[in-house]
Amino acid sequence: MPCTVVVGAQWGDEGKGKIVDALSAEADVVARYQGGPNAGHSVIRDGRTVVLQLLPSGILTAGKRCLIGNGVVVDLTRLREEADRIEALGVDVRAQLGVSAAAHLILPYHLAAERVAEQGQGAIGTTGRGIGFAYRDKAARTGLRVGDLFDAPWFVERAARNLAGLQREFPESAELKTMSAQQVLDGLADLARWVEPMVTDVSFELDEALKRGRRVLLEGAQGTLLDIDHGTYPYVTSSSASAVGAAAGVGLGPRAIDRVIGVAKAYATRVGHGPFPSEMPAEEAERLRAAGEEYGAVTGRPRRCGWLDLPALRYAVRINGLDELVITKLDVLDDFDEIKVAERYEGAGKNGERFPAATRELERCRPVWKSFPGWKTNTSRARRWEDLPQAARTYLEWVEEQAGVPVTVISVGAEREAEIRRGVAVR
Ligand code: IMP
Repeated sequence: MPCTVVVGAQWGDEGKGKIVDALSAEADVVARYQGGPNAGHSVIRDGRTVVLQLLPSGILTAGKRCLIGNGVVVDLTRLREEADRIEALGVDVRAQLGVSAAAHLILPYHLAAERVAEQGQGAIGTTGRGIGFAYRDKAARTGLRVGDLFDAPWFVERAARNLAGLQREFPESAELKTMSAQQVLDGLADLARWVEPMVTDVSFELDEALKRGRRVLLEGAQGTLLDIDHGTYPYVTSSSASAVGAAAGVGLGPRAIDRVIGVAKAYATRVGHGPFPSEMPAEEAERLRAAGEEYGAVTGRPRRCGWLDLPALRYAVRINGLDELVITKLDVLDDFDEIKVAERYEGAGKNGERFPAATRELERCRPVWKSFPGWKTNTSRARRWEDLPQAARTYLEWVEEQAGVPVTVISVGAEREAEIRRGVAVR
């Protein structure tokens, strides 16, 4: 630690929830720095799967301070529902949680606008949570933040202007037509009273924690390839999902961060539209989807499945400045005769090992495959490196060498103990 970032090294759904949950046992404060209720972090607690969307994964550890940073977009209705659900498990969410006054709000008109926009030609295949429209207002400097909930005239005036703009943009939306800014504020009255005692200055809290020698964990949602700047634009989410967004999303200086952990599956998936060079043919994908239960935790959508993509992984190492990699879901590959990896790309100009910065170029890339023999052994009970079959070790060692960073943890199942900690100790 003292300040560690955990980030997805692919297109999200890498199994960060489990890793953050485990690391948060060693942290004093856990903070989310971007995204919103589009995230779905599954954590197993007492044999039950708990899905967290807006709450940092540390919330399940009693007494752990959990913060929602300024870089997050907050849907208060969903946050309240989630908090109630987690409180029913015996967690004192209200005592543990702090929400940045500077976090932007997802409002009903963002949801309504997205519903119409996603029917149109420019559809991205979003999670339908109003994420893009909330961040659009933020960038346009017309957004409303958590702190604005307590100034009714200011809130109504700005919300009215935003709503009028969306009504002009989407005249076909009956939902937008019948909405009013006052209604939006009235609908939030109870939620505002509920959240008020939790509103805090996340930047100040984290700085104080670090000065007192506390350990801070910054939790990313989505993944590097969904980052608004560095992902496969425009098929991305609307925030800085890579580690470069962490400092900005909680209000710390970049030098506060001293360790960056990337999480990648032993293969690859993506949800929504956009290029995916190592995508498998339908039949193979179906097999992997079933083995890995690759369905969206938030939307239930079947995920597109593919093999590990080395140029993409090396790119994630570079963009995030990864210190180490956690490889998850190795056990999902247990029954495959052959394990393939996209080693480099054909059609990516001179340098087929490099992930192209331009999405149009990526669309033209075809993988050059490397093949490994499958291990055909159940790895889910492996707890030490030596417990893994030689073929699995060969695969992981090759990935590590190609990625250029150590693979420190290998996850072989959803339960917390189903992992192998290797060589470099988790500090
Ligand atoms: P949005 O974040 O809902 O605007 O969706 C934009 C893109 O990011 C779509 O392709 C979504 O499928 C994808 N996306 C957003 N959140 C997640 C996630 O948590 N896991 C995987 N994909 C996600």
